[in-house]
Amino acid sequence: MILLAGGTGRLGTVLATRLTGHDLAVRVLTRDPARAGHLAAQGVEVATGDVRNRASLTPAVEGADVVVSAVQGFTGPGRVSPATVDYQGNINLIDAAKATGAQLVLMSVAGAAADSPMELFRMKHAAEEHLGASGVRWTIVRATAFFELWIDVLSQTAARSGRPVVFGRGDNPINFVSVTDVAALVEHAVTAPATRGRVLQIGGPENLTFNQLAVAIQAAAGRTTAPRHVPPLALRLMAQTAGRIKPELGRQARAALLMDRIRLSHDAGNARQTYPDIPLTPVGMCLAPKPKNSRLQAQ
Ligand SMILES: NC(=O)c1ccc[n+]([C@@H]2O[C@H](COP(=O)([O-])OP(=O)(O)OC[C@H]3O[C@@H](n4cnc5c(N)ncnc54)[C@H](OP(=O)(O)O)[C@@H]3O)[C@@H](O)[C@H]2O)c1
Repeated sequence: MILLAGGTGRLGTVLATRLTGHDLAVRVLTRDPARAGHLAAQGVEVATGDVRNRASLTPAVEGADVVVSAVQGFTGPGRVSPATVDYQGNINLIDAAKATGAQLVLMSVAGAAADSPMELFRMKHAAEEHLGASGVRWTIVRATAFFELWIDVLSQTAARSGRPVVFGRGDNPINFVSVTDVAALVEHAVTAPATRGRVLQIGGPENLTFNQLAVAIQAAAGRTTAPRHVPPLALRLMAQTAGRIKPELGRQARAALLMDRIRLSHDAGNARQTYPDIPLTPVGMCLAPKPKNSRLQAQ
C-alpha cells in the first residue's frame, strides 16, 4: 500500500493514476474527500487527514509500505504556509512513517537550502534534514518549477484581456519541467528500493524566462499581443501592505521578486543520463490542447 499525501494535487493526481495503472494499491490523504472524487472512481482509497495534525496521520499511514509526500503550503486553501505544511507537516508525516516502519519519498524543490532567500526552499530543506536524521528509509526528489502550473497561472491572467500578466520583470531564466516527467521519476522512486538514501534531481529540457513563456502561450493561443507586467515596485508594495492582511499574497509577491533574480536555471543533463527512460517533455507539448475531461486542465 502506498500512502500519497498531496494525491489530490497537480502532481499527486498524475502519480496516483500511474501507480494504480501498475496495479499498486494507493491511498490518498486529503483534508477534504470531495477533492479526491476523481481518484476514488479509479479505485484509490481515500483517507481524511491534515499533515498539520499528527494524530490525523496515524490511521492514514496504517498498513502503508511507502509514504509519498507531495504536499505544499506555499499557496492553497486552509491558511496553509511553508512553515506549517512543507516543514512541520512533513515532519509529522516522517514521524508517522517512522512509527509504522514505512519508507518515505519526499517531494522537494531544486534549490532547497538552509540559506535560500526563498522561505519555501528553506522549509523543504529543513524537512529533508529531518528525514535524513529520522532513521526512516528515504528518497528525496527535487524538481524545478512545474510547466503546467505556470502555464495555467499565465493563461488565467490572460483570460479577459488576452494578455498574460508577468509578475516582475520576467527576464530571469527559469527551468520548467512537466508534471508528467516528475510523476514518472517519483513512481520510479516509490518502486525502486535502490533509490533509498539518494536525492534525485529533475528538471525539464528548457530554461525560459517568464516573458518567453508568456510569448509561447500567446503563440499557442493564436495571439500576438505582448504580456503585461506587475512592476517590482508594485510587488514590494503588495508584500508590505496586502501581505500583512493576507500572508499568501505577501508570500507570492516576495517569491515573484526573488524569481526575478535568484538562480533558477538547471542543467537537466545529469539526471537524464542516470534515468534515460524518464520523458523530457518540451513546453510545446505542455501547451498542446488537452482532452476536455483532463484533470490536469481542470486544475
Ligand atoms: N508546483 C511546482 O512548481 C513545484 C516545483 C517543485 C516541487 N514541487 C513540489 O511537488 C509537490 C506537488 O506540488 P503540486 O504543485 O502538484 O501541488 P498542488 O497541486 O498545489 O497540491 C497540493 C497538495 O497538497 C495537499 N495539502 C496541502 N496542505 C495540506 C495539509 N495541511 N494536509 C494535507 N494535505 C495538504 C493538498 O491536498 P488537499 O487540498 O486535498 O488536502 C494537495 O493535494 C509539492 O510537494 C511541491 O512542493 C512543486
